[in-house]
Amino acid sequence: MKNDISNPSISYVNTVLCNGEDAANITVAAAILQQGGLVAFPTETVYGLGADALNADAAAKIYAAKGRPSDNPLIVHIADIDDVSKLATVIPDKAKLLMEAFWPGPLTIILPKKDIVPDGTTGGLNTVAIRMPSHPTALSLIRESGVFIAAPSANTSGRPSPTLASHVYEDMNGRIEMILDGGAVGIGIESTIVDLTGDIPTILRPGFITKAMLEDIIGDVAIDKALIEPDPSLRPKAPGMKYTHYAPKGELSVVETSDVVATINSLVAQSYGKGSRVAVLASKEHAGEYICDDILVLGEANKGETIAAHLYSALRECDARNIDYIYSESFHQTSLGGAIMNRLLKAAGQRVIRDD
Ligand code: TXA
Ligand code: MG
Repeated sequence: MKNDISNPSISYVNTVLCNGEDAANITVAAAILQQGGLVAFPTETVYGLGADALNADAAAKIYAAKGRPSDNPLIVHIADIDDVSKLATVIPDKAKLLMEAFWPGPLTIILPKKDIVPDGTTGGLNTVAIRMPSHPTALSLIRESGVFIAAPSANTSGRPSPTLASHVYEDMNGRIEMILDGGAVGIGIESTIVDLTGDIPTILRPGFITKAMLEDIIGDVAIDKALIEPDPSLRPKAPGMKYTHYAPKGELSVVETSDVVATINSLVAQSYGKGSRVAVLASKEHAGEYICDDILVLGEANKGETIAAHLYSALRECDARNIDYIYSESFHQTSLGGAIMNRLLKAAGQRVIRDD
């Protein structure tokens, strides 16, 4: 069935949304992957949009479905640590230690790639990103299909990553064959990415596995400079980190003044004065103090896990409510603060309001 959707290079397919805990559905999804089709599935971080990683044509369909730039490489998902040797030419001891410590789980490791991994999967790079997810549906799908699954987050390029199957449906209906619904994901932000191809292991994207957790296992770990000082002249080593990501349609600003509540209330009042629709992304502690019709509570400020789990759905909710301006508190406090602020500031295009 062909139909016109916004990207004319892909044909319309009926997307089946079904229970990802049902073994029969996983069997169908596995067959779709074997035949070179696209299936979205839950992982513990965010939903992934999967295709056979070793089939260049299948991987190409991911880029078309997402509208993703083709230089942005995909993560290859595996279900067995031993399979790393099928994908990577060199596996340093530190990589092995990290795999043993954190897999299955929210950690992606970059290694030099074997020729079997097509350039279409790695965006032309000679390295490959590998991750063993812990979500049971993801693991069953990889095992039952017998394919390594290339999977970016299952959002349209530029939108917040999906943390619910309904988010995937919103973005991907008509573009992929199937969505396995596993309910709300546990973590809510994408995996930590560590590059192990250089002398010092380097974090290319912060996530649930923190620098301190990595250093406990392998000693010194660096952070990609482009992450520390968002400076357009520094090119992030993870190509995907250079794109404006996670962005809601409304203009998001992060407020870091000495009296955040007062500043936000005054900005909200100004925006209302212009006839705009406004939302506040708030901590539970401050939520009651805002004078605004759309207050989205992310969680207690000292509970990084809760904030991370709610961030992307709050950004999508702003889109659903047609919000023009979004003002957010900062969430630096917890061990997950680095990962949360990385996503929030990218969504805000680095727009921060401070005392002058
Ligand atoms: O939690 C996650 O990692 C999720 C779930 C689905 O597993 N996946 C995910 O994929 O976030 P994606 O495509 O949205 O982000 C992958 C990131 C991009 O920033 C990409 O540039 C980077 O990983 N990446 C992939 N391969 C790389 C490589 N060989 N070298 C450097 N960066 C790489
Ligand atoms: Mg993504």
